[in-house]
Amino acid sequence: MNFLINTNKSSEIRTDCLILPVFEDAILRGASKTINSQNNNLIKDFQSNGDISGKLGQTRILPINKQSYKRIVLVGCGKFDEYSENNYKKAITSALKKLSFTSHKNATNLLASDHLIGKNDELYYRTSRIMVESWYEITYQYTATNSKKEKKYSLSKLYFGTNGNKRSSSMSKGLKHGESIGSAIQKVKYLGDLPANICTPSFLVKETRKIANKNKSISLKVLNESDMKKLKMGSLLSVTAGASEPAKLIVAEYKGSKSKSKPIVIVGKGITFDTGGVSLKPSNAMDEMKYDMCGAATTIGLLQMVSDLKLPINMVFIVPACENVVSSTATKPGDIVTAMSGTTIEVLNTDAEGRLILADALTYAQKFKPELIIDMATLTGACVVALGKHISGLMTNSDSLAKELTLAGELSKDPTWRLPLNEDYTKQIKSNFADVANISTNGVGAGTITAGCFLQKFVGDYDWAHIDIAGVAWLEGSNKGATGRPVAMVSEFLINRALN
Ligand code: BES
Ligand code: MN
Ligand code: ZN
Repeated sequence: MNFLINTNKSSEIRTDCLILPVFEDAILRGASKTINSQNNNLIKDFQSNGDISGKLGQTRILPINKQSYKRIVLVGCGKFDEYSENNYKKAITSALKKLSFTSHKNATNLLASDHLIGKNDELYYRTSRIMVESWYEITYQYTATNSKKEKKYSLSKLYFGTNGNKRSSSMSKGLKHGESIGSAIQKVKYLGDLPANICTPSFLVKETRKIANKNKSISLKVLNESDMKKLKMGSLLSVTAGASEPAKLIVAEYKGSKSKSKPIVIVGKGITFDTGGVSLKPSNAMDEMKYDMCGAATTIGLLQMVSDLKLPINMVFIVPACENVVSSTATKPGDIVTAMSGTTIEVLNTDAEGRLILADALTYAQKFKPELIIDMATLTGACVVALGKHISGLMTNSDSLAKELTLAGELSKDPTWRLPLNEDYTKQIKSNFADVANISTNGVGAGTITAGCFLQKFVGDYDWAHIDIAGVAWLEGSNKGATGRPVAMVSEFLINRALN
């Protein structure tokens, strides 16, 4: 698919499909008004005969004769005074979905032109980017392990129409960013949706290597279990102890800035399957624990996005990857292990494994003297209880980072909500036999926060944020599938850091 800009006036656009907005008040404005007059009140007729009410997401395709465009795709955009980026996103998504079932080759989107009152570069950027991201969202297909043939789309050129307004760099930037973020999200969904017998730690290594091989700014290092032993990563190793599938620690350094500026380190939980270990999980919905590597997948997706866009920034991407399974060599509840940092950990519950692999990954991250560290993990069921499937949990030792990430979540429509970290909660993970326990030993509740407090013990004084994506990383039921979150939110943050 090619994403392009068309600066012609609506009445002169040469295209298969002209995508136009109609609102609930039935008043035609801008391009819709012009095109209506050019076609003898065709749109008005449609409205007055009840073919389209303007309700958000409605679509109708009208055949046209003797114009430079062959079809009009009318799209309900809801109430005019409520037309927002969110509603625009829903409208363009319905239009593109509809078009994806047709054999038209190109289309021009004029849903933004009525929205862009005056010249506002930020709106041009957002609306062009949303158009592209929506296309990627609609066209994600999982076909890796079923006999479904991949559907081919006829649409091959999608234009962002300006209705006569000048082209601006914010539009091409929006299209470019949309492509990189959109395809990174598709990559994360693919990795998440793959079953655990395919998507192993070694498979994640291969996928990362593919990205690294395409880009000179990336240097990839993969630590195996003997390397981990040398580094005394007793915490990570305790999780993989029961597995015959080898654990990996993936470390990809991206040098996008010529300066020696300190890197931003991204860490993602890569449990390719979580049975709970000896503290075995109930079998109901256990298959969903193939998604326990979504933090890792997001890390790999972000590596792809950042290198694709050649962001002028230095970064390190770290993925601790292993299986949490049961066998005679598996770690047992009560076992005490020593992390790379020297901290001893009483493993009271082998199902609280994510924090154990992250502990050593976070210690390793400090080797790079980072500007800041962000980790992402499907860490706690408690986070699903607290925030449901809509918002991810954010915990951080930096108020300014909290603000920045929260704003990035709002702008990218991939929201996150801060939870507190403090000494009262840290006290809950005291152990009588080790420096710390891997679950609460005194006090009840706050499972997401106590996990955050555990991680905090392994980040030293560095600015750090932990994002618990247990609720948002995948959907259940008939829509079961990975969501690609929080690629959009972290991309927003990184782009803002790199380009502003
Ligand atoms: N991967 C799970 C968390 C999870 C559970 C994510 C359900 C999404 C849905 C994690 O490893 C885990 O098992 N956490 C335990 C921690 C507990 C033993 C303190 C949990 O949340 O039950
Ligand atoms: Mn677990
Ligand atoms: Zn887990």
